[in-house]
Amino acid sequence: MLHKILFHDLKRQYQNISDELREPMQEVLDSCAFAGGPFTAKFEQDFAEYCDTKFSIGVNNGTSALHLALMTLGIGNGDEVILPANTFIATAWAPSYIGATPVFVDCDEYWNIDVSKIESVINERTRAIIGVHLYGQPCNVVRLREIANYYGIFFIEDAAQAHGATFDNKKVGSFGEMACFSFYPGKNLGAYGEGGAITTDSAEYRDRLHSLRNHGSQERYHHDELGFNMRMDGIQAAILQVKLRHLEGWNARRRQIAQLYLDQIKNTAIDKPKLMSKANSVFHLFVITTENREDFRKFMEAKGIDTALHYPISCHLQKAYQNLGHQRGDFPHSEFLAEHCVSLPMFPELTDQEVNRIIDSTNEY
Ligand SMILES: Cc1ncc(COP(=O)(O)O)c(C=O)c1O
Repeated sequence: MLHKILFHDLKRQYQNISDELREPMQEVLDSCAFAGGPFTAKFEQDFAEYCDTKFSIGVNNGTSALHLALMTLGIGNGDEVILPANTFIATAWAPSYIGATPVFVDCDEYWNIDVSKIESVINERTRAIIGVHLYGQPCNVVRLREIANYYGIFFIEDAAQAHGATFDNKKVGSFGEMACFSFYPGKNLGAYGEGGAITTDSAEYRDRLHSLRNHGSQERYHHDELGFNMRMDGIQAAILQVKLRHLEGWNARRRQIAQLYLDQIKNTAIDKPKLMSKANSVFHLFVITTENREDFRKFMEAKGIDTALHYPISCHLQKAYQNLGHQRGDFPHSEFLAEHCVSLPMFPELTDQEVNRIIDSTNEY
């Protein structure tokens, strides 16, 4: 009997690096620098260097990163923020948290925001565009930057799924005024708990983010504005610092697995992801589409292979956003994706044998 292939097996990676993690974790425990502190500062420095940005600001998760990035830009009541309809819901929460309205735009053939559909929704209330690098593939950051510059609005990257991806050979995280990352455990760079970061080249934004994440305070017990407790834990920072050293290798393995899927899945019932030539994806997810996905998923399950859905309901059709008055049919590509997507297992520790089994089963379907 063949073993079950999990959608994501975090234990394998932990077993590979557990020895390397022990000392830094012990150091944090011994120094009791648990909330913020020197381990967070060191990771921030390393991560900024990795992303080719001047600064990175560690926070408690990716949702907070997006929330604080928009706040830092002074976006608020009555403003509009443009974002793709097909993303994880946290992208849309960010404007909603601060009294702004998320304005959804459909996706293109790469499943990223369709840059040709943005200008028609820009008006005097529009303050920013959030471009999401969905599934690890950079969206068209060059065009988004141009549109944002032309209309005098901000461009924020949601890079939660794309640590290390590049566009025109330049790392994501460095195209927008700010970029937001998540270190949720299953991400390409994942903490052992929650974590997130914002990258930026602006010292002004960095200072505001430092204040906002720490109760609106730069000096202890002096609170200059309404702030939050959204600091990064020392333990998470120490773990992330170790894991960052492995990220390029892990991303390379993800790309290798993706290439095998792309080359060897030849079933006409399965549509493989399309890749933009300038974008170098880090394949956080490998998402195919198929006509009858429940049928396909059952078939794979019978073969002992887990699959998942990213994401089964577009943001505009979520109950939480019914106040925006959207209907089925508003964003046909996003809705098609929501109804037909299936994510195959994708993590660096998959063995060649397992990858072959996934390919063979997909072709057998
Ligand atoms: C595209 C996207 N944006 C934002 C987030 C939010 O990150 P977090 O789960 O760390 O809050 C995630 C991850 O869950 C994500 O995939």
